Amino acid sequence: MAKKIVAGNWKMNKNLQEGIELAQGLNEALAADKPNCDVIICTPFIHLAKVSEIINHDVINLGAENCADKASGAYTGEVSAEMVKSTGAEYVILGHSERREYYNETPEILKEKVDLALANGLKILFCIGESLEQREANEQNAVVKAELEGSVFHLSAEQFANIVIAYEPIWAIGTGKTATAEQAEEIHAYIRSVVAEKYGAEVAANTSILYGGSCKASNAPELFAKPDIDGGLIGGASLKVADFKGIIDAWK
Ligand code: PGA
Repeated sequence: MAKKIVAGNWKMNKNLQEGIELAQGLNEALAADKPNCDVIICTPFIHLAKVSEIINHDVINLGAENCADKASGAYTGEVSAEMVKSTGAEYVILGHSERREYYNETPEILKEKVDLALANGLKILFCIGESLEQREANEQNAVVKAELEGSVFHLSAEQFANIVIAYEPIWAIGTGKTATAEQAEEIHAYIRSVVAEKYGAEVAANTSILYGGSCKASNAPELFAKPDIDGGLIGGASLKVADFKGIIDAWK
């Protein structure tokens, strides 16, 4: 069975003090009321080391939002997978549509990042998803399949066990427009079938496939009730303890 997961993606929000406060608040809320799923918070690089000290890693896992496509050396401003791991982080988000679009991250670059993250013992939240134009042209299945083939399908089955897939339709991210639970389930089932074709039914059944895009406490129960939706990757609604906890509680 695939692990049930609720992951937060803070994006470029919260200064250090605000981030510490948020992590502390979440840690307290989940200590008082144990979650029924794995919880991950992905923070900006500057928060990682401090947040790692604050949280109970048995309850909350920590992740970065990105890492470099080079191992080390003269790459001013970059942060390597090894550096991320050394903060106590367990995960890294790769392939987010904002990084693909605004920072020109190609499938080849993402493949390098995937390999470096795994080589340094990080698990990966790997994001895929189509644009509105692609959805309107009914290309969503081809798009997500190509994104998997381009950056993670070179992995062995053993390596692939460290990949969590996040399906995030670009037209639903931060727009308030959520995919319907039926729309999401349809493509999640397709994604699982593509993983099964590549790695077999058992690996596919064990792969967590998260939905992301305007997921909130009000729509999470309906989404998470679908058989191929194993949780969510949450942007805006991960920035307040009550909102994020509301989504985590959808697994109760
Ligand atoms: P959102 O972002 O929940 O604010 O739509 C999701 C994401 O981009 O991971």
